[in-house]
Amino acid sequence: MTEKFNKVLQVSGELTFDGDKSVSHRALIFSAMAEGDSIIRNINRGLDVNSTMNCLRELGVRIEDKNDFLIVHGKGLKGFERPERMLDAGNSGTTARLLSGLLSVQNFKSEITGDESLCRRPMKRVCDPLREMGANIKSNDGFLPLTFFPSNELSAIRYQLTIPSAQVKTAIILAALHLDEDTTIKETAGSRNHTENMLGLPVNPSPDGNIILINSSFYPSPREYDIPGDISSASFFIVLCLLVPDSHLVLKSVLLNSQRLAFIKHLQNMGADITMLKDDGTSGELTGSIEVKYSQLRNVPFVNEMIPSLIDELPILTIAGLFAEGDFCLTNANELRVKESDRIESMVANIRLMGINVDVYEDGYKFPGNNTPTGGLLFDSYGDHRIAMSLIILALLLKDGAKINNLSAVKISNPNFFDQLKKITR
Ligand code: S3P
Repeated sequence: MTEKFNKVLQVSGELTFDGDKSVSHRALIFSAMAEGDSIIRNINRGLDVNSTMNCLRELGVRIEDKNDFLIVHGKGLKGFERPERMLDAGNSGTTARLLSGLLSVQNFKSEITGDESLCRRPMKRVCDPLREMGANIKSNDGFLPLTFFPSNELSAIRYQLTIPSAQVKTAIILAALHLDEDTTIKETAGSRNHTENMLGLPVNPSPDGNIILINSSFYPSPREYDIPGDISSASFFIVLCLLVPDSHLVLKSVLLNSQRLAFIKHLQNMGADITMLKDDGTSGELTGSIEVKYSQLRNVPFVNEMIPSLIDELPILTIAGLFAEGDFCLTNANELRVKESDRIESMVANIRLMGINVDVYEDGYKFPGNNTPTGGLLFDSYGDHRIAMSLIILALLLKDGAKINNLSAVKISNPNFFDQLKKITR
């Protein structure tokens, strides 16, 4: 699907979002593991979360969709069933990596694969610690498909995360929840902490990083989940509003977990007029509204420690950087190379199409700010949802608009994106 987008004159109004994608995956998996029925409200309706739902169904979990909420009939500690076919994680790294932790500790053989993009993404990062715990995993040279064999040599480990990845951390946690002894995970750079929050895991600061403690006493129980709106889906609308004169937008009931707000902090450092108002207590994660007003932005250096917390928002922050004053310079973001596409390549190729000079590094890129491209081009989304949405926002800012190909990828995380755009633009 290729579509033309024209320049917008103003952004205004209010938006709400489907549940946060990361929290939705976890709510489904924890509900499936619990013994008994859990209710999930405001689940993310994107294809990635649907992949997790399908995999859990293949493992024998009954999930009833009542439109406004889901009822997950959890299987308990030993209730998952051997799947009849290979599990398909589709485009979802979170599905493949999180479920690896769960499949490693089952007493049946299972296999998981994914689409072409996911089959290019590294799985060694989850296989290594799980094997250290005694899991019996066969991989395709560090890539999908993965095959899990029953193992009776599972034991707790002390693990130091070498890559700041919440997916790796959660895979280890899901396996460790099946063991009575304490597993500990030390992380030096903060990655998103939804798993710790939702399971109530103790996280103790130490001089060289936080130490997370896991054992079977934290195994999930049935409960009700109200999933806050997806803050990463909101990021595209926030940047659009900041860049269109006279614009004003309010985003309601979104996730305000501090680990996920690094991109807002960065935009505020750039001069963005963004205010956040927290709602009263919710189930395990903070929620609130965000008010955004058109602002004059200037590029400022990224704080290195914040990169893991804003990794998903780097494509849309790059769009903000194109129009802000001063040079945009990103380094220390190697992880972008192994996302749904190589996001360094994807962004640089599209920026160069506009005739802008970009210096490319292994871990980032640099270009001058204050650009006034006219557009009228065909951008390539590389089939990557966050690149597609970032390019749409870019097209809406260009005098002659732009065409973008491969837009169906948007449905991976936000099937409501186009309706939401229509609602707030004129
Ligand atoms: C996610 C963790 C991040 C993020 C991804 C979702 C999660 O990936 O990029 O979109 O839900 O745990 P990494 O763990 O690879 O950093």
